[in-house]
Amino acid sequence: MVDNKKSAWAKLWQQPKAKWMLGIPVGAFLAVAVGAIGFFGGQTVLHATSSDAFCMSCHSNHSLKDEVMASAHGNNKAGITVQCQQCHLPPDPVRYLVKKIIVSKDLYGYLTIDGFNTQEWLDENRKEQADLALDYLRSIDSDTCQSCHTNVYENQPESMKKMAKKMHAMNFKKLQTKPEKYKTCVDCHKGVAHPYPKK
Ligand code: HEC
Ligand code: HEC
Ligand code: HEC
Ligand code: HEC
Repeated sequence: MVDNKKSAWAKLWQQPKAKWMLGIPVGAFLAVAVGAIGFFGGQTVLHATSSDAFCMSCHSNHSLKDEVMASAHGNNKAGITVQCQQCHLPPDPVRYLVKKIIVSKDLYGYLTIDGFNTQEWLDENRKEQADLALDYLRSIDSDTCQSCHTNVYENQPESMKKMAKKMHAMNFKKLQTKPEKYKTCVDCHKGVAHPYPKK
């Protein structure tokens, strides 16, 4: 493990200079963010890292934002645009920061993965990346979904489709009766913001 890590960093060191240069804006951003923790406490950082712009700074050539805007989460009659982190990062600030630290491994990926910030890379790796994102959501029982969709299992609204009510109620009951059969939101709902790849 230690050896692996070492060779990974050694590999990074061998990257052509151009790659390092790409990392400078992100590195500068992180330096400011770390400095800000000292000066203003976590709030400033939370704020800075809570916008779509932060996510899109590394994913700028990916169609992710357009996909959200085309989905029910960006194109609905209520005029709501759901932000990246509202789905992907937990609402609880402590876990939020832990996830940020994990996400910061992406900085390493950003610098080392060949062609990462291109649409071709996303298209080619969509399935693998989607499944990673799903694994994370499963691990938190789709908490992020549930923080908006609060009345899916209990106090279901009159207007919820009959079929949906029935499926949701059945699933909720399994929590008590057959917990091993209980499903989380994203087990039944894939591709709610980006097209879920077939393979
Ligand atoms: C520092 C650059 C960087 C930033 C900022 C960034 N990402 Fe990423 N992201 C990456 C890289 C690189 C990968 C793919 C490699 C990997 O998984 O390490 C990735 C993969 C992902 C994945 C799929 C894989 C997984 O582990 O779930 C999701 C989802 C994701 N990013 C969402 C986000 C969101 C939401 C934000 C904003 C809160 C964000 N990213 C900000 C670089 C970044
Ligand atoms: C910030 C609030 C918010 C979050 C977080 C959120 N949603 Fe939604 N969701 C909405 C809104 C708003 C709509 C559109 C409602 C409408 O059109 O009346 C919606 C619509 C939906 C729909 C119906 C439309 C469709 O695409 O079939 C499903 C299913 C859904 N969300 C599932 C999810 C899942 C799964 C997650 C977590 C990955 C999630 N939502 C996260 C607010 C949210
Ligand atoms: C066992 C599978 C299952 C699980 C788990 C599940 N759903 Fe559903 N959900 C459905 C089905 C089936 C429908 C109806 C699909 C349709 O009409 O297109 C539905 C419909 C919906 C709708 C649209 C309701 C409407 O009337 O249009 C929303 C929003 C939604 N689900 C959110 C969620 C959220 C959030 C979770 C997690 C808390 C969740 N669902 C968990 C199966 C599930
Ligand atoms: C409504 C919730 C929701 C929103 C908003 C959302 N995502 Fe996702 N995202 C998901 C889910 C769920 C997956 C897992 C795959 C799937 O079901 O399509 C995912 C997958 C991903 C992936 C892996 C590749 C893929 O397409 O599956 C990346 C990268 C990603 N999201 C980044 C972002 C970024 C950046 C934003 C903001 C522009 C964003 N997401 C907004 C729910 C969301």
